[in-house]
Amino acid sequence: MSRQQLIDMTRSLVAHGEAGTMELADDVVRIPASSYTDEALFEREKKQIFRRLPLMVAPSCELPNPGDYKAMDICGVPLLLTRQKDGSVGAFLNMCKHRGNPVAAGTGNATRLMCGYHGWTYKNDGTLVGVASPQDFGAVDKAALCLTRFPVYENAGLIWATLDPQSTLDIADYLCGYDDLLKAFGFESWHLFSQRTLSGPNWKTAYDGYLDFYHLPVLHANTFGADFYNRANYFAWGPHQRLSTPTKYAVKVSSDDDMQLDLTTVADDDLSYEVLVQGVWTIFPHISIASFYGGGLRGAMISQLFPGDTVGESYTTQFYVMEHEPDDEDKIKAAREQFDFLEVVVRDEDYTTGKRQHEALQSGMLKEVLFGRNERGGQVFHQWVEKLTDASDEQLKEIFAAECKQAAE
Ligand code: FES
Ligand SMILES: [Fe+2]
Repeated sequence: MSRQQLIDMTRSLVAHGEAGTMELADDVVRIPASSYTDEALFEREKKQIFRRLPLMVAPSCELPNPGDYKAMDICGVPLLLTRQKDGSVGAFLNMCKHRGNPVAAGTGNATRLMCGYHGWTYKNDGTLVGVASPQDFGAVDKAALCLTRFPVYENAGLIWATLDPQSTLDIADYLCGYDDLLKAFGFESWHLFSQRTLSGPNWKTAYDGYLDFYHLPVLHANTFGADFYNRANYFAWGPHQRLSTPTKYAVKVSSDDDMQLDLTTVADDDLSYEVLVQGVWTIFPHISIASFYGGGLRGAMISQLFPGDTVGESYTTQFYVMEHEPDDEDKIKAAREQFDFLEVVVRDEDYTTGKRQHEALQSGMLKEVLFGRNERGGQVFHQWVEKLTDASDEQLKEIFAAECKQAAE
């Protein structure tokens, strides 16, 4: 991980903060309103983006122990994640090779998984170990009937998988070095405190909200406060973007205690990683990571967003991860309150607004929507969605090879 890169970003934010400036995009950008409501486009996005690109499917702390597994459904694809005996993660199509029934549901811990239909058994590395009543079933080559594997990658305490077994897009290439910066959080050793799933509007409408600070003091006036900052500078690695406030202060955001530290008085060597990762880190196309503090303990909310069944629906799993597991009643209560507060903010403010906005857009009466020069995150996001939706499989590899090269320079 490049500490220097993080320091350079922080110093740039501090300089802008002191000067009272921010980095602006070149122009106001117009997006067709139909890109939020068009059903055919929505189906193409699910196919070209969610079923073809690497997705951050779980924080590592959701599967901390050998034998841990999680089954999930992403855009109609049943996915099984397992923590294998050697500590690595396996990602599989969650379908029995007999007749396709999912071999696991929900979460649990098991080294072997038995399909609940006829009883075929798999090891958690995908190997088929037992055909029920083999003397009656007939001869089959068990080695050829292992669970189908998806490409998987774990780094920085996060797990990515690509829901295309044939994908040749390297997941590390896709991340353009961004995952190495995410290591600064130290998620490898963090603890999963709690998680929940919320329903939201169109996935892009929902994701827009994670990519702008412009709305914070208005939409969140009653929760974050009407004097909350509304400016963000953007840093990009391919389609992955970090946004952070141009300010000379390190701000601890919490429902009950605010603390400010003047960063112009802190030497580079003394900048903590906690300060260096301020702001929101998004991982294209569907993740947002933001830091919070509950009862004085450091935490982060990792929001994982997926398109729903229709163009106007999405769902978001919020993972509340903590640097240290709260170890007494007061700390547990404070962490719970912080997490509940974030649920209210997202569900009652962001997503309630997004659903209303979506209904209005569905009238078809507005031809385009605008992203200002101060909303570069949304501009970049929509450009990438369009570019990647239209790209061929071959072009995908070229696009990310070029991005990696650029990020390395
Ligand atoms: S479908 Fe799995 S054992 Fe028959
Ligand atoms: Fe918001």
